[in-house]
Amino acid sequence: MAVALAGQLREGTKKSHTMAENTGFVACFLKGVVEKKSYRKLISDLYFVYSAMEEEIERLVLDNHPVVKFIGFKELFRKETLENDLKYYYGDNWIKQIQISDSAQSYVDRIRYVAKESPELLVGHHYTRYIGDLSGGQILKKIAKKALNIDGNQGLDFYEFSMIDDEKKFKKSYSDILNNLPINQDIANKIIDEANQAFIYNMKMFKELEGNLIAVLGKIVFNYLTRKVRKGSTET
Ligand code: HEM
Repeated sequence: MAVALAGQLREGTKKSHTMAENTGFVACFLKGVVEKKSYRKLISDLYFVYSAMEEEIERLVLDNHPVVKFIGFKELFRKETLENDLKYYYGDNWIKQIQISDSAQSYVDRIRYVAKESPELLVGHHYTRYIGDLSGGQILKKIAKKALNIDGNQGLDFYEFSMIDDEKKFKKSYSDILNNLPINQDIANKIIDEANQAFIYNMKMFKELEGNLIAVLGKIVFNYLTRKVRKGSTET
């Protein structure tokens, strides 16, 4: 009954991956244009997303769900690492300061809906976020560290998978697990569709952050320009 899901997921989300890499916020991030306020907003949105995903996965694993029980890897969980980072960016009172964005709320709603109506499709959400974090994480950590001017590793816990020694080995065993899930091709197709949906939810979240980033960058440019004008005006 098993199908070769890992390769199909990779092929089936290739276009979405390229599109996600090319969203303004991500493209700026890759170029090292990261601004602290937008970054901490990203971290807080991700906190809501991972909290929902991990709560649903834990519940389904406890219920011994025939598919989800195979992907309940605690070593991938991100909620705690995000809490640590939020403490760094917002202070001890972080929980009172963060608010979910509209796009992150729709993403969370989708996760909750899928977990209730067709839990096996959570595999698509799981793959898109966790395997993406594991794959691109170290590059993104380096970029964030430099751009945010961080000494040491504080505020970068999200990128640390302390319980995974060998990322490649882990990804290989993850692929093996995907390829042996008790699903048929019809469910596999639905999981691939859901993974593409997960990419779309991520892109919508990035788009919303892009708005904040442009506003902040606009302010910086505005301050810079008006400072120049002021400087000029005192000279004349
Ligand atoms: C900042 C831009 C990004 C970069 C530089 C990046 C980079 C990478 C790299 C280097 C890989 C490894 C490919 C391989 O093993 O051959 C990868 C895989 C992956 N990325 Fe990204 N990525 C980015 C954005 C994203 C986003 C936004 C998501 C989803 C929200 C994502 C999800 C994935 C997934 C699911 C994989 C696993 C593919 C597979 O092996 O099946 N990536 N990415």
